[in-house]
Amino acid sequence: MKAAILVESLTGNTWKAAEKTADLLTQERWTITGLSKVRHPDHAAIQAADLVLIGSWVHGAFVFGQAPWAVNSISNLPAMRGKKAAAFCTFALHPGKALDKLTSAVGDTGAYVIGGLAISRSKLDQHSEEFATRLVDALSASDA
Ligand SMILES: Cc1cc2nc3c(=O)[nH]c(=O)nc-3n(C[C@H](O)[C@H](O)[C@H](O)COP(=O)(O)O)c2cc1C
Repeated sequence: MKAAILVESLTGNTWKAAEKTADLLTQERWTITGLSKVRHPDHAAIQAADLVLIGSWVHGAFVFGQAPWAVNSISNLPAMRGKKAAAFCTFALHPGKALDKLTSAVGDTGAYVIGGLAISRSKLDQHSEEFATRLVDALSASDA
């Protein structure tokens, strides 16, 4: 499986989650075609990928109004019809509906969204591992 990863990160947590997920997927013999910023997407990496992972940090008022910061830049991504995609966001206290909003924005690119995960910044390693495991399971089930 070939995956491209696109990330919007302010203080590094989402980037770390992406790197951890990439490491774990590589251990499962996936190829990571590129890790780039949503705002400066690696077009060749997207083109070469079967699956595009899109991650963002959550902003809001902590208890309401949560949204993924990357939403506007996602709408500028190239059309991804024919690609699968999965979303992830990192948060501090409560992600609210940020993951749903992120998933919906990713779906608007034309990609087929297979799912997503909200990753707590205090459990980056554990939740990234869960994300990678779910991706491997989902993709191996769909290939079967
Ligand atoms: C301005 C601002 C608003 C935030 N709002 C929320 C919020 O509403 N809910 C929440 O759980 N975390 C919130 N956070 C925390 C970030 O989502 C969290 O630290 C995230 O992991 C940051 O990712 P990054 O290091 O990739 O930028 C906020 C952070 C900032 C800077």
